[in-house]
Amino acid sequence: MNNLSYARIVGTGSFSPKKILTNKDLEKIVDTSDEWITERSGIKQRHILSENEVLGDMVYDAAVNAIDAAAIDRSQIDLIIVASATNEYSFPSAACILQNRLGIKNIPAFDINAGCTGFIYQLNIANQYIQNGSAKCVLLVAAEALSKVTDWTDRGTCVLFGDGAGAAVLVADTKPGIRSVTIGADGSYKDLLYAKDAMYVEKKDALVHMAGSEVFKVAVKKLGEIANHSLEINNLPIEKLDWLIPHQANMRIIQATAKRINLPMERVIVTIQDQGNTSASSVPLALDTAIRDGRIKRGQTLLMEAFGAGFTWGSALVDY
Ligand code: COA
Repeated sequence: MNNLSYARIVGTGSFSPKKILTNKDLEKIVDTSDEWITERSGIKQRHILSENEVLGDMVYDAAVNAIDAAAIDRSQIDLIIVASATNEYSFPSAACILQNRLGIKNIPAFDINAGCTGFIYQLNIANQYIQNGSAKCVLLVAAEALSKVTDWTDRGTCVLFGDGAGAAVLVADTKPGIRSVTIGADGSYKDLLYAKDAMYVEKKDALVHMAGSEVFKVAVKKLGEIANHSLEINNLPIEKLDWLIPHQANMRIIQATAKRINLPMERVIVTIQDQGNTSASSVPLALDTAIRDGRIKRGQTLLMEAFGAGFTWGSALVDY
């Protein structure tokens, strides 16, 4: 290992579209109620892109926020990775589009798609690049324009999702940083949560399809397992964990995971009431929100976890 072998988060950023859709607004679109949505999911509102806004706008704004927070010069960035399943282009990648908008050239830029687990996969990849000396300053942006693939006639899914972006700058450092990032997948679950590519199917099939209660059961089990796994492999007693930053899919899933690792809800970052499920961006958006409002402080230990389409899953233990 080289001397600068740890990946450390030096700045975060996020972006949420201005337009807000409340549960009351949804009552006018589908047969639902504020009471049902609040009780079953914990969601009160979500941010939605306007017709003339695209994913790339959110990616850029979140990236600039993170770069400013990191107080680095754009020329220092030597790798860009974007996580998304809802880029407006099939190609080029959202990362190449971002690179151009940032005015950077000649560094690698690529996208990954790991569903809602996108940010944890990104942390894993950035960690490898930094640990083996291939990169010193990595820009990660996770963003989703889920409103563009939402079936607004399906009350089982349209009440859950929102749009947004979260970003982080990681640099090589002599101290941690990322302590561990574990990721996994099981593609045999592909039919429980999917949206097909509009190139191959009718528009209706290119929208989100989800078997909610089946996804719920696997998510609760897997998230509990992987959260515990990260604590165990780092020998971290729960008293030493400052914050859990979970994927914001459902308040009941978040509560079940906290219970599984014996963490009181006061040490869990919850943004689902304001954001809904923003897929890959949910964890970095929650992270940035809690850093900016002063809950998460330098020197604290954070556990991030996510679960999503694939199925994919992952958890990261990080000293901030
Ligand atoms: N408003 C009112 N009623 C609704 C509704 C809505 N928006 N959506 C579904 N219902 C109804 C169903 O039709 C069903 O009625 P029925 O009993 O008459 O058939 C009833 O509510 C219960 O539906 P069910 O799907 O069993 O509810 P649930 O308790 O599982 O909650 C979800 C539904 C979607 C909130 C929940 O399953 C969930 O959060 N799943 C996982 C989501 C997730 O994590 N997704 C992404 C992974 S990253």
